[in-house]
Amino acid sequence: MSTADSRQRSPQQLQPKPPDPVSAWLQIFAPIAQDLATVERRLQDSLQHSDPFIDELAQRCFRLGGKRLRPALLLMTAQAIGEVNDAHHTLAAVVEMIHTATLVHDDVLDEADIRRHEDTINARWNNQTSILLGDYLFTQAFYLASSLETTFGCRTIGRATNIVCEGELLQTAASGKFDLDRKQYFRIIEAKTASLCACCCTLGAHYAGADHETVKRLENFGLQLGLAFQIADDLLDLVGEEKTVGKSLGTDLTKQRMTLPLLVLRDQLATSEQQELQTLLDHPSSENSAALLNWLEESGALRQTRDLALAHADQAIRQLDFLPDTPAKHSLQQLPRVAVSRCV
Ligand code: IPE
Ligand code: IPE
Ligand code: MG
Ligand code: MG
Repeated sequence: MSTADSRQRSPQQLQPKPPDPVSAWLQIFAPIAQDLATVERRLQDSLQHSDPFIDELAQRCFRLGGKRLRPALLLMTAQAIGEVNDAHHTLAAVVEMIHTATLVHDDVLDEADIRRHEDTINARWNNQTSILLGDYLFTQAFYLASSLETTFGCRTIGRATNIVCEGELLQTAASGKFDLDRKQYFRIIEAKTASLCACCCTLGAHYAGADHETVKRLENFGLQLGLAFQIADDLLDLVGEEKTVGKSLGTDLTKQRMTLPLLVLRDQLATSEQQELQTLLDHPSSENSAALLNWLEESGALRQTRDLALAHADQAIRQLDFLPDTPAKHSLQQLPRVAVSRCV
């Protein structure tokens, strides 16, 4: 692929799969459906507010979309080890609150308009409201976590949240860095996304009474799943449809972020073509995005990136071999590939 003209055509392949497969998620979450309903009530109770404005803001975050992947991970890990208990329900509500707080802040960083099929808080209100609402959710989450009998949950979530913030900081610092390498990319996505997924598995296992080695294996499952999930999300940002996905897309290009598909493409180009690529990335516009997408498609970079996501999904699945056969194990085994199939 070398002429700028041929990059103007719209890509024919690797169209996004229709629907984020809601039914696939529901089917996977079936073993913990009742526990998820309990978590939903706990979220509602914890975020109810007598002031109608604060109440509206908090409720809005949890209405409609939102796959509840993190609470589900925590609950399924618990069930795969033993029994889901009250601490798991509280912790599942806490991790969803933390995740939602990071999204509210992330939408400010990305200047995004749509989240979970609704206007973002920054689009409907303003950045000040988003920052404060994010802070409100973070602090409410830790307030709730502190009601547990032991400090392990609070401490583990505190560390993971801290690492998520590090990831977002590193990503901000890397904006516009065409020479970002894969190690730096993986450091960012591990921190901003995989660390919270890993934390969910740690908590599910620990509070179900698992020993140290078992907790570590499940933590690694969560980490690999999180990497696969974020690589798929980075693909989705390029090839997805906002209507289907329910959030603003294309922001990685607008914010000049070197995500994995771009790294894969860059690393297979000759120097002169790399300069051509950099020129496209340095001047974000809808024409340049279309040209880039076509280039990514025709070079095979999208497919190669999808394969890298699948490799992490498979690595995640292998961590589960030691578990006894249960419906929860079966669900955990399906999760990584469904997470990646969002974009293939
Ligand atoms: C979005 O996470 C942020 C990423 C880590 C890619 P989700 O795709 O799980 O968002 P919701 O909770 O379903 O809205
Ligand atoms: C965000 O990654 C991860 C967070 C820690 C919030 P993205 O910026 O890719 O998430 P989306 O695409 O906005 O959901
Ligand atoms: Mg974002
Ligand atoms: Mg994204």
